Formats: sequence, structure tokens, C-alpha cells
Amino acid sequence: MTIRKLLRKAFISTPVAKPVDLSGKYMIVTGASLGSLGYATAKQLSRWGATVVVTTRRDTEDVVAALKNELEKDSVKVKIDGHKLDLSDTASVNQFTQWYEGLYGDRLDILIYNAVIHLDLMSKWKEPNLTPDGFEIHWRTNYLGTVQLTHNLLPLLKKTGQRYGEARVVNVVSQLHNRGSNEILFNAQRAYESWQAYGLSKLALIHFTYELHRRFSQTDNLKSYCLHPGGKSGTYTNVANKGFEGHAIVGLLRKLVAPIEKLFMDTAEEGAQTQLHCAVSADAKSGHYYVKCQAAEASADSRDESAAGRLWKNTGEWLTKMPV
Ligand SMILES: NC(=O)c1ccc[n+]([C@@H]2O[C@H](COP(=O)([O-])OP(=O)(O)OC[C@H]3O[C@@H](n4cnc5c(N)ncnc54)[C@H](OP(=O)(O)O)[C@@H]3O)[C@@H](O)[C@H]2O)c1
Repeated sequence: MTIRKLLRKAFISTPVAKPVDLSGKYMIVTGASLGSLGYATAKQLSRWGATVVVTTRRDTEDVVAALKNELEKDSVKVKIDGHKLDLSDTASVNQFTQWYEGLYGDRLDILIYNAVIHLDLMSKWKEPNLTPDGFEIHWRTNYLGTVQLTHNLLPLLKKTGQRYGEARVVNVVSQLHNRGSNEILFNAQRAYESWQAYGLSKLALIHFTYELHRRFSQTDNLKSYCLHPGGKSGTYTNVANKGFEGHAIVGLLRKLVAPIEKLFMDTAEEGAQTQLHCAVSADAKSGHYYVKCQAAEASADSRDESAAGRLWKNTGEWLTKMPV
């Protein structure tokens, strides 16, 4: 047994999502770059027989080729497609929607959001970094982009739910949603802090998940879930690389300690189990927050229904097309 396996056996228990047959089902996994939780998720869903569409901000050729390469080695008959999607860009979200509808317009069973940015991990920014359309960059990418794409694909998700018995939206959030609060969500007059901005985007996604459940789970069989991936020690992916951009010494130190970090952190495959559970398990309860494949309590603020309703309405006004 390796040192890593011994350490994990002694200190960390990682639950594993149960396999299911996904033949005939269609899924989108956003943010599936090599080494990410999205990549590991797409790989497992594909192994279970689904047709999987992966997205990254750039061309997806490397991701599709790597997935095919890994799965075909194990004699899995793969149905994987990929397309560019930038959630911080309205035009890109709309273009992706048109592409998906053009090719797979009859069905969308599961939509899993992994895509994320968490920038400025050293908290150096004194002012928010804005996207071309004027939004704080974490808010635009992590929250508004997710809502915009879900809104675009809502008719297809509802159609799938009605016709085939269910469709699901899975939002990968973070325990760091507790860095945000409802007070800050509706009162922007605060000193800027990037960890708080990240937390706010995740708190908003939890509100969005619960609101989707309240609005569409009964009427359209559209189920929605949110979750913290992996265990307490985090999952080793690329997210921190971008967060430390511009800090060469910290970046170098991270590279040096990476082998030790990897002993304690989940691999992307281990970390992806909770989102897989939410995506496919018959036991997963819609409208809940999950940690380690179990329903868990998210922050008290995230359970404030009036705040979720208010955010839904405000978001609808921002996006103008969102149903309110
Ligand atoms: N890793 C952890 O320990 C941890 C802990 C808590 C929560 N999470 C959550 O888990 C999810 C997956 O994170 P990860 O750790 O796998 O991170 P990651 O390795 O950085 O993957 C993030 C993915 O999002 C994509 N992305 C970035 N900006 C985008 C944009 N504007 N539009 C569309 N896609 C974009 C990235 O593409 P590029 O490669 O092109 O940048 C990448 O494919 C996130 O929701 C994160 O908040 C992770």
C-alpha cells in the first residue's frame, strides 16, 4: 500500500457514487479542462454510458481526445463531444446554447456546472475586476453565466423532465459560500475582497439551486442540487494556479510542495464523487446541499427563501430574459 493510501485510510474517508446505467441520456459538463473536477466527472458519466458534452473556455479538442484516449483503453464505447463556452461572455453563452440545440435539441438530462474562477487568492485587489459588460468578474462568471445558460436551456430541461421523468441541474459550489451573506448580496457598498466575491457567487448559486427546485421540481420534474466537492482537505485541480497568477514566488513554492499536498488532498476522481452522486443517484434529494455524498446544512443565509426570491427577481431584471 502506498503512503498516500495509508494516510487516506487513516484520516480521510471518501464515499464513492454508485454506478448507474446512463445509456441514452444526454449531459453537459461545464469547465472540464484537463485535471479539473469537470474532467473527472465527464469521464465517469461517459463510462456509465451517457452522451457527454464537455466545455472549456477554449477549443475542447485536447479534452475530448484525452477522454477518448483514457476510456477507449478500457474498451468503453465513448459518446463525447465538446464545445467552447465562456460563462463571462453573454454572446458565448448564447452561441453555445444554439450549438447544443442544433445538435442535441431533443434532450438534455443533466447539466453540471463545474466551471469557475477564483482569482486573486492573495487578496491584493482593492477594486473589483470588471467584465466588459460591467459586472464583478466572479459574479459574472460563476453566478450570472450559470444562470444565463440554465435559463437558455430551461425549455429543453423542462421538456426532458416532462417526457422522460426527470432532468437535473447540478451546481458545484463550495463551503466557502459562507464567505458571502445576504446582507452583502443586496448591499454592494463594502470594501472589495476577492474571497468574499467568490463566496457571494457561490451563495447566490445555492439560492438559485433551491429556487429552481421550488419552481420546477413538481411541475416539470426538473431536479436541482448543489454541493461541496471532495472532503475537508480540498481537491487537487488547477483552480489555485489561476488564483496565484502574478505571484511567481508563491507559484514556485506551490510547485515544490505539490507532492506533499497531493498526499492529503483528494484527486479529481475522488473529489468528483459527490457531484456524480447528485447527478445520477435515485437517493439524492432535489433542492438540497450535499457534502461527501450526504445531504448537509448550508449556511443559514442560504436557506432564506425571501432572499432567494429577491435574488431571482433581481437576476431576471439583469438578464432581462430570465422568467420571474
Ligand atoms: N478544487 C477544490 O478543492 C474545490 C473546493 C471547493 C469547490 N470547488 C468547486 O469545484 C468546481 C470545479 O473546480 P476545479 O477545482 O475543478 O477548478 P479548475 O480545475 O480550475 O476547473 C475550472 C474549470 O472552469 C473553467 N472556466 C474558467 N473560467 C471560465 C469561464 N469564464 N467560462 C467557462 N469556463 C470557465 C476552466 O477552464 P480553463 O481551463 O479554460 O480556465 C476549467 O475548465 C468549481 O465550481 C469550484 O468552485 C473546488
